[in-house]
Amino acid sequence: MSTAADRVRGGTKFSEVLGPIEAALSQVEDRLGRQVGAFEPGVSDYVRYALGTQGKRLRPALALLGGGACGPLNDYHITLAVIVEMIHLATLVHDDIMDGATMRRHKLTVSARWGNEISVLLGDCLFAHALKLATDFPDMEVCRRIAHATNVVCEGEILQTQRRFDLELSIEDYLKFVEMKTAELFAVSCELGAFLAGAPAPVKQSLRNYGMALGIAYQIYDDCVDIFEQENEAGKSLGTDLNKGKLTLPILTLLRRASETERDQISIDLTSYSAPGAARLAALVVKHRTLDASLEMIGHYLDTALDSLKPLPASGFTTALRNLAFFLQSRSLALSGGSKPASTHAPTH
Ligand code: IPE
Ligand code: IPE
Ligand code: MG
Ligand code: MG
Repeated sequence: MSTAADRVRGGTKFSEVLGPIEAALSQVEDRLGRQVGAFEPGVSDYVRYALGTQGKRLRPALALLGGGACGPLNDYHITLAVIVEMIHLATLVHDDIMDGATMRRHKLTVSARWGNEISVLLGDCLFAHALKLATDFPDMEVCRRIAHATNVVCEGEILQTQRRFDLELSIEDYLKFVEMKTAELFAVSCELGAFLAGAPAPVKQSLRNYGMALGIAYQIYDDCVDIFEQENEAGKSLGTDLNKGKLTLPILTLLRRASETERDQISIDLTSYSAPGAARLAALVVKHRTLDASLEMIGHYLDTALDSLKPLPASGFTTALRNLAFFLQSRSLALSGGSKPASTHAPTH
């Protein structure tokens, strides 16, 4: 049986993976652009700016692929894709405030450009607008599921924020936050895509499981990017997790692998920023091969995602869902080929 680890496709582009939904994604882009007009003229510039063009539109892609894997795509799928992207965007606007991030999608964050007050309110507007769109579906269940997922995402962010700088955080707790703040929206995108194509319950559940596992793998990958990648490649501020005390898998692994003496120093370096401290952490995450442990975990969740697709009928959409997992696997493995971190985090501004 092929697994994510042994089926990595070299050099595949993300846009190639999304081939079967290219036309539908451009409809989504159009429809997203049209949402700008729903806001007051004084607000619409912020919305237009935040929507940008450089987002990967991953959650819309999942809604469309999940739908296409179960039946013909219809206009409700486009609406769903717009909704999940707007919810995602709202969480990013708020997340960038909390992280003190200045760059997102290769541009200044909304908070860096217009300040935190505007950004909090803009995030609220985006959430509210997305939920308003969700009332368009004839079946109330869709709106209910979207509202529930939004709740879970926000609660995940709260739970994570409560445990910042908590060196006793368990890996189980970390995975719970990841599941809530990121994977739930992936899961609901896939599941509702299937729902809107009239899929039977077991198929909806399979797609939900796929989205959940892919979402967990994706957030772990992103947490590695925060430590092991360069900002110009990522197009967003990096190092903010550590600055803000978000203890992610590479650091949790480090805390478990370090010697007692190292651990004492790590505790100091994690809780108060200094340039030598950041350099020490950077050396230790490499010394203890913490990336390898995260890659292994990513591989595990991607295998679960691939397994979840087994009950689905063969189609270009199902293949694309599978390729998405392979794509993430190859991007993750590429992190270990990158240059080692000189410093794991930058001074808080
Ligand atoms: C960033 O999500 C936040 C995470 C859940 C890791 P994406 O990586 O999908 O961000 P965009 O939409 O492409 O900017
Ligand atoms: C964000 O997690 C998760 C959300 C649901 C907003 P991160 O803080 O890791 O996302 P990035 O790295 O800023 O995109
Ligand atoms: Mg962030
Ligand atoms: Mg991140």
